[in-house]
Amino acid sequence: MCGIVSYLGNQNALPLLLDGLQRLEYRGYDSAGIFIQAGDKAHNGKVSGKVDDLRKHFETSLLKEAHVGLGHTRWATHGKPNQINAHPHESNDGSLVLVHNGIIENYESLKTILVEKGYRFKSETDSEVLINWIQEIKNSKQLTLGEAVHWALQTVVGAYGIVVFDKTQPDTLVTARLGSPLVIGVGEDEYFVASDATPFIQHTRNVIYLNDHEMAILQKNKPIEVQHLKSNTPIDPEIEKLHWNLEDIQKGGYDHFMLKEIFEQPQAIKNTLRGRVNLEQSKIDLSSMKRNEDRFIHATRIIILGCGTSWHAGLVGEYLIETLARIPVEVEYASEFRYRNPILYPTDIVIPISQSGETADTLAAVNIAKENGAFIYGICNVVGATIPRATDDGVYTHAGPEIGVASTKAFTSQVVVLIMMALKLARLKNALPNDQINELLLELNRLPENLETLLQHIEPIQHLAKTFDTATNCLYLGRGYNFPVALEGALKLKEISYIHAEGYPAAEMKHGPIALIDEEMPVIVIATKKGHYDKIVSNIQEIKSRKGRIIAIVSEGDETVKKLADHVIEIPISSEIFTPIYATLPLQLLSYYIAVNRNCNVDQPRNLAKSVTVE
Ligand code: F6R
Repeated sequence: MCGIVSYLGNQNALPLLLDGLQRLEYRGYDSAGIFIQAGDKAHNGKVSGKVDDLRKHFETSLLKEAHVGLGHTRWATHGKPNQINAHPHESNDGSLVLVHNGIIENYESLKTILVEKGYRFKSETDSEVLINWIQEIKNSKQLTLGEAVHWALQTVVGAYGIVVFDKTQPDTLVTARLGSPLVIGVGEDEYFVASDATPFIQHTRNVIYLNDHEMAILQKNKPIEVQHLKSNTPIDPEIEKLHWNLEDIQKGGYDHFMLKEIFEQPQAIKNTLRGRVNLEQSKIDLSSMKRNEDRFIHATRIIILGCGTSWHAGLVGEYLIETLARIPVEVEYASEFRYRNPILYPTDIVIPISQSGETADTLAAVNIAKENGAFIYGICNVVGATIPRATDDGVYTHAGPEIGVASTKAFTSQVVVLIMMALKLARLKNALPNDQINELLLELNRLPENLETLLQHIEPIQHLAKTFDTATNCLYLGRGYNFPVALEGALKLKEISYIHAEGYPAAEMKHGPIALIDEEMPVIVIATKKGHYDKIVSNIQEIKSRKGRIIAIVSEGDETVKKLADHVIEIPISSEIFTPIYATLPLQLLSYYIAVNRNCNVDQPRNLAKSVTVE
């Protein structure tokens, strides 16, 4: 889950690598390092802490200008997050330098062999073992750097996205991947290699996504060479164009990325809907579903896979698809699915949902489903990421880059995709009357505008955040479509404010959690008009009679819950299928302002990283 960025060209590498690492900090932020070399001078600067600390370190470095360099921001897997374990790592003879994202699973056995040969290790990392393994193979077999990396990787078990540099060949970088993402930026006489394209978007939009088992040799003023690590055959790399801008990955005047991304939701959803809602013909145009229409019509079951927030979107998908299209749906944590020998049928459709498209468990679950012959239709935000490349077909959410670690706009745009899919399936299967579909399409189209209006009334939420920012526990309750919203609201609060929070189906409260309720316990209830309104009103009364402090998310103009709850937040009146979107926004904002009041690092919560590319 680390971030790597490297540069080879004519610009000064240091500022470029520092800025690039800063953009990759969402991938890990416990230590950072940069190696640069200019002529016979080199400097490997590493710090425990963030990229800002690394910036300070380089202010006092004698070497500040170089045209080649490797950078890394770490999320610790092997060894503590300290300076010694920080990357880049150098080999014993000091000739080779490496940055690595991933885990080398057989590092202990490789290390034993190397120790017997007299190698010594400074760090506790698997990465330092890998660079020495490459050195050993290079020296003992008298190979070039490219050949040595190729050889070494044949014996490595695990996941890696690596960049390797040989101090004696300063015009070359070698990079390879298996299971950890790598993108090569191809500029004018310059190359970039990074975990994603954010570090180099202002320099080039031409990218090559390296696939698993591929290795590339980048040499100054020479075309890129890509080869397959298993078959050893050359590959003609496909250069693709990026379609987003630098502004998309900057805070744009907001205090945090998370707040910017919350406010971007109307636009993100507009982008998700663009060209897909055909009001004139009253239909959804999803070309990937059209291509696979037969499969969708004959699907006897849909299995949705995901982790965290994406799994919550999947739960909303279950309600949507079962209710509107009458196809049975199962929603599984990818991390469980992958290890339980799942039973799959040829008529199943497996839908992995992932913002990043890099989550290791979701990717592994996709591979298992593939091995079992299932048809995989993915929902992903990051174009060209590993998961969409592993699927048979799918749909992008087009929410734009999400940098804040807590997922916000990705969730609502995933739900929008699921609404579109459910409506399309409903039509394909004649499961809903046409006039009902038409009405829902009109409502779907109004979502961005309504969200815009909702976001103009945030003061009551800021006020509420002040009332509740000292809470130690919170309960979130919802029924039907609003149950996943309760889970998502609780996850948002705990991950950024470190307040313990639980989401529950409201009716389950009586089976245990009600014991927690007293005058100290804030209970957030999603109590919108459509759906199980009367039932949730009874649940609110049960909480009230136990003196719980009730914050209710209600439909505009609701008077009943207003009388019962201590605080209410109004959202637009809508069909039930849209409440997960309207109700989630205020919960995101509530968590955000509570976390800010508690001085938490909202964009980079402790122990977390944006893409969980390790198990
Ligand atoms: C929570 C959050 C995580 C992710 C999860 C899956 O705010 O962001 O729970 O949703 O790690 O990530 P993706 O969607 O990238 O597969």
